[in-house]
Amino acid sequence: MVLHIVGARPQFIKLAPVANAFKELAIPYKVLHTGQHYDYRMSDMHFETLAIDDPDYALGIGSGSHAGQTAKMLEGIETVLVKEHPSLVLVYGDTNSTLSGALCAAKMGIPVGHVEAGVRSFDRNMPEEINRVLTDHISRYHFCPTHNAMDLLKAEGITGILTGDVMYDALLQFTKIPVTHPYTPPFVLTTIHRAENTNEHERFRAIWEGLERISTEVPVIFPVHPRTRDMYPDILKKPVKGISVVEPVSYLHMLAMIRDSRCIVTDSGGVQKEAFLLKSPCITVRDTTEWPETVEAGANMIIATDPEIIFSSVMQMMHQASFDSVNPFGDGKASYHIARFIQENCL
Ligand code: UD1
Repeated sequence: MVLHIVGARPQFIKLAPVANAFKELAIPYKVLHTGQHYDYRMSDMHFETLAIDDPDYALGIGSGSHAGQTAKMLEGIETVLVKEHPSLVLVYGDTNSTLSGALCAAKMGIPVGHVEAGVRSFDRNMPEEINRVLTDHISRYHFCPTHNAMDLLKAEGITGILTGDVMYDALLQFTKIPVTHPYTPPFVLTTIHRAENTNEHERFRAIWEGLERISTEVPVIFPVHPRTRDMYPDILKKPVKGISVVEPVSYLHMLAMIRDSRCIVTDSGGVQKEAFLLKSPCITVRDTTEWPETVEAGANMIIATDPEIIFSSVMQMMHQASFDSVNPFGDGKASYHIARFIQENCL
């Protein structure tokens, strides 16, 4: 039996195609949800809309400091691993749930597979970067989304397995389901939630000012992550003509909104890739990216958190000719390649 450990929104999206591939190949599995994300719109909504079976274990750990949250996860996961003795633990991406799952299993001598291995921003100030690096160094199987990730792992002395990106699989599977959203183009879509942009008030205020500038030219739609909502209630509740602050939307709606937007302003890793794959230009308000392929393709710009730069970059990207480049994220069957590898090598 393979135990999938998930806990945060992007992991439910990554799990969906992988669970489908496991079912297709009749590989026995169970799912553990740490509870890192727990609001309906961050968790249950995605299990429902992506048709993922309810988790076999729901630890309900919730929010906390990094140490507190990780410690509770380690304890909770250990209890499940002692009971279930899985042949393999599969962890996804770069969250505290990823590191906790990998660390707990590795210490118990249970092999770990890391989906989205080898991805690096080279910014150790990001908790996600620490989670990625540590997870890769304690995992046995490294399922890499791109050639770049394979090369980066190799530089750290680790041999990866090139499978492609399960997020591309998810995108292909779920864009087949037609959905409509209430927004009439043209509009700019934005998501901001990273600690680096929300913990420092100056940075968030600068981004917000940039969005206000953009909204004088084109409407801005902002589905707000609870982290951002909780930290900036005053700013976000004050009505600004041209900016729609809305609740987090389903993955299906998000894909449709990305596809229809004139430009994206984000600090999310996943959204940068989805913008590239759905051919919408992207502005990333961060110092680094873990997806340089999107920048090399001319589809994504990494820019400073300065209102004027944010505004002028969006105007530039909105009016530039469309980009056309080779898709580095695989053949859309990454989940199947991962499942097949596990069936042949890990059970
Ligand atoms: C986490 C991941 C990040 C991923 C993101 C996707 C880590 C370190 N970060 O960031 O890599 O891109 O998820 O969304 O694991 N909160 C709620 N309700 C929820 C979830 C969160 O209110 O359902 C609030 C809480 O105030 C919490 C804060 O959001 O303290 C941060 O949540 P946390 O899960 O620690 O990190 P994210 O910012 O969501």
